[in-house]
Amino acid sequence: MNSLAAVSLTSESETSIFDRKESNVQSYARSFPVVFDRAQGAQLFDTDGKSYIDFLAGAGTLNYGHNNPHLKKKLLEYIEHDGITHGLDMHTVAKEQFLETLDELILKPRGLDYMVQFTGPTGTNAVEAALKLARKVTGRNNIVSFTNGFHGVTMGALAATGNGHHRGGAGAELSGVTRMPYDNYLGEDVDTIDMLEKMVLDPSSGVDMPAAVIFEPVQGEGGLNPASFEWMQRLEKFCRAHGILLIADDIQAGCGRTGTFFSWEPAGIVPDIVTLSKSLSGYGVPFAVVLVQPELDIWKPGEHNGTFRGNNHAFVTATAALRTYWQDDKFAAEVREKGEYIKERLEGIIAKAKDVPLKRKGRGMMQGIECPTEEFASAVIKRCFKQGLVIETAGPNDEVVKCLIPLIIEMDLLKEGLDIMEASFAEVVKTAGQKKNLVSVS
Ligand SMILES: Cc1ncc(COP(=O)(O)O)c(C=O)c1O
Repeated sequence: MNSLAAVSLTSESETSIFDRKESNVQSYARSFPVVFDRAQGAQLFDTDGKSYIDFLAGAGTLNYGHNNPHLKKKLLEYIEHDGITHGLDMHTVAKEQFLETLDELILKPRGLDYMVQFTGPTGTNAVEAALKLARKVTGRNNIVSFTNGFHGVTMGALAATGNGHHRGGAGAELSGVTRMPYDNYLGEDVDTIDMLEKMVLDPSSGVDMPAAVIFEPVQGEGGLNPASFEWMQRLEKFCRAHGILLIADDIQAGCGRTGTFFSWEPAGIVPDIVTLSKSLSGYGVPFAVVLVQPELDIWKPGEHNGTFRGNNHAFVTATAALRTYWQDDKFAAEVREKGEYIKERLEGIIAKAKDVPLKRKGRGMMQGIECPTEEFASAVIKRCFKQGLVIETAGPNDEVVKCLIPLIIEMDLLKEGLDIMEASFAEVVKTAGQKKNLVSVS
């Protein structure tokens, strides 16, 4: 145990500083009750020096891994040079380079012409800005969001979020949003776009004409639900036909997670507004933007402001991430290949579980396994952690074991992590079979 461990961990009879001083609101720490000290690539190390393979990746923030050396080098050089750290929204060299790089490597090659709004550096602030702008542009109040959608926990974004646990924390009315069923929410036989059309266009349905529809192309926190490309295309068509703005929340699924920079790209759609955060800085440094079609950019100066817009360290690492990984399709192709490998391995786990009803969910490197119960999923991730794998659950009842693996993970480590998952599932399947209390085995 090193010196940091000595001060931060107490003897068994005492409680730790985290128990004594940290708010009850902490959550991830409950699943992984160790003190983490260092991290590199797809590995974390605790204060005892034990290593863990990271299948959580900062909830999708560390697509390029922990302390990515390319990004770290640029950040260290920038700090050493006394580059601007905090600049409000003033022009800085770091911001200039980020905007130029984003335009050159991401927007222009995809024929996109978005204006870039820098918001407060969290995903939820980008969502707040997107919703406010849509209401301001259209003069309408209502927003359509979808079942199982997760958009953040500030009041506007929370109103658009489905999860009852998070909504319950609001302590006030969450208004201005109409919920509609997401793709496949009501089973394969129900066309939820037909339903949306009927509800929005029927003047007597009780649904006010929306300013915007906000959706995740692959729902992350909601349990790895991918919308089909056709569903996204029809959603875009419907919105266009009725002057409703289409907001793609690509905070979790974007920045390469599904094998293309934007997760909506393969559907061939062009949302009016796009929110990005999490892996945009590439280094775990807080950063969020809203991409806006130029004609919609009707903000008055400073109307949606925030002291921490323009995190210059994030500009530096984001630029380095784009220059390192997005000059061509090589990195994205590797992500797609790894996604295929993950799919095969998850299918293998499911096949071995025989009668236990497990289901693969997700797309690209955003996949996981839906378990029969929350208890089952929880037992799996506990066993994974014991074997040195950090992995979390998602879904309405936390029943989906969710792989959010750093995209840069080496194949041997990816294999090792999936081996741990496989062994953990096998153990829980066996226990379930014996006890019949985790799931009824038919
Ligand atoms: C799709 C999506 N939107 C918004 C958010 C909120 O981002 P943040 O936690 O940075 O506020 C998240 C966070 O998980 C998310 O997954």
